[in-house]
Amino acid sequence: MAKRPLIETAVFPVAGRGTRFLPATKASPKEMLPVVDKPLIQYAVEEALAAGARRLVFITGASKRAIEDHFDSDQELENLLKSQGKSDLVKQLHSVLPSYATCIYIRQPAPLGLGHAVLCARPAVGNEPFFVHLADDLIAADEPVLAQMADVYSHKRASVIGCEPVPRQDTDKYGIVAVEAAGGTARIRSIVEKPKPDKAPSNLAVVGRYLLSPAIFEHLARIGRGAGGEIQLTDGIARLLQEEAVYAYRFSGKRYDCGSKLGYLQATVAYALAHPQLGADFRRHLKTVVKTPAKTRRQ
Ligand code: G1P
Repeated sequence: MAKRPLIETAVFPVAGRGTRFLPATKASPKEMLPVVDKPLIQYAVEEALAAGARRLVFITGASKRAIEDHFDSDQELENLLKSQGKSDLVKQLHSVLPSYATCIYIRQPAPLGLGHAVLCARPAVGNEPFFVHLADDLIAADEPVLAQMADVYSHKRASVIGCEPVPRQDTDKYGIVAVEAAGGTARIRSIVEKPKPDKAPSNLAVVGRYLLSPAIFEHLARIGRGAGGEIQLTDGIARLLQEEAVYAYRFSGKRYDCGSKLGYLQATVAYALAHPQLGADFRRHLKTVVKTPAKTRRQ
């Protein structure tokens, strides 16, 4: 019998409207923006599966139907491709989601924040530790970051938060932690949501990877609205660490903030350069583009 995975459930909060990418995200979810040939949410799901997750919980909102369609089977399209003899494309369709994975969709009734979105997952998660993955933070890594975190969990048996240092002036874009010791994995002493640089306890920022104890749900259910008038996951974690150990883990990998246009473009270039079929041609093309002065280039 296959070994039971350490962490079975991954939660993907995908209810945000992605206003920074309007009009691209007017009718289509930001998580469906492709990086080369896969939507962001596909990278997210692949990372969770690689870390052993089998139950995938999507917290959705308005205009997110495309995510459900993406992970659903499409018999009509399959039949068409089969009739055209395109069996390689049928295989690609099947690879979107392995048959052992289950998708659960829960609607977040109102945009009350990340903490509220995670709380919406409670009935599907139950009393087990679980991953939370924010698809905006795309991380290229030899070992997928959630798998790195599951490994930390296997030793510590406590919540683990993916972190990386950011420039001081950017602390107000992230949850920021103060840790007890330097090093790759350290117990968190305090955490605060988006502090101004002069108020930040450090420059160690929370990125979109969490492995949380189910005790978080009680706290999320009790805390009120915090920064930005939203129920903040950070505030729930601040309560959690008063009663349980919570670790900051400095993952290895390169993070791209695909919630910003520049980060998204950087990810696209990096993933295109690393693409097995496209990489070499794309590299040659980029070299010609960057050599030509901008004003002589056609739009
Ligand atoms: C959320 C969290 C924040 C975290 C960030 C990581 O903020 O609230 O603590 O650092 O994700 O991407 P958001 O980017 O949704 O504003």
